[in-house]
Amino acid sequence: MIQSFPELAEFSAWIDEAADALAEHGWFWRADAVSSAQVAALSADLDQVIDDDRLKRAGIGRERDFQVDRDTRGDWIFWLDRQRPAQAAFLAQAEQIRLALNRRLFLALFEFEAHYALYPPGAFYRRHFDSFRGTANRMVSLVLYLNHDWRPGDGGELVLYQPGGDEMARIAPRAGTLVLFRSEEIEHEVPPTRIDRASIAGWFRLNTTTTDHLDPPR
Ligand code: OGA
Ligand code: MN
Repeated sequence: MIQSFPELAEFSAWIDEAADALAEHGWFWRADAVSSAQVAALSADLDQVIDDDRLKRAGIGRERDFQVDRDTRGDWIFWLDRQRPAQAAFLAQAEQIRLALNRRLFLALFEFEAHYALYPPGAFYRRHFDSFRGTANRMVSLVLYLNHDWRPGDGGELVLYQPGGDEMARIAPRAGTLVLFRSEEIEHEVPPTRIDRASIAGWFRLNTTTTDHLDPPR
């Protein structure tokens, strides 16, 4: 399988480092984690999603708790599926990452879900954790950026916070940069962007399905 995803050629070089960083610090980032050809394919695919008018206002919470809250986040999203090759290839890579993290960190990550996100100028996502209250099902968050022309001053960095405290990292959302962090432990924020800001945000989840509780579909 892995041979059909040449972008993952260097994957073995950084996945150990990523697993160690997640275990020790709770987060990891890498520039150029994904080839520029693949970033271009994902960007073109996102453009098509936009042209087809398939982005939706992002909300907070799931199902009955779902609400659009413009004071919290201002991005537009599209949940990835395997219908189109660029999305399928990316999801196949996420599957490699999932298996590798399970092996190295003794986790039981069960599945991966991800969406494109487009932040128009002025949009932001206030400081938050990714795992929902009382349901520890999102364990590791992943973000991949698709912004070829990002420059300092364009805003929309990813700001990570120390537990309960101060800023500990500010990551430029440049095309090809990948970030992984522990969903329940790392509080983070996207300050306002001045340009259209494109990313894929995804989550490796535990299987929380039991007989009397079907883990909610999106
Ligand atoms: C999220 C999120 C960060 C980013 O979607 O939950 O925090 O940099 N995204 O896009
Ligand atoms: Mn988040």
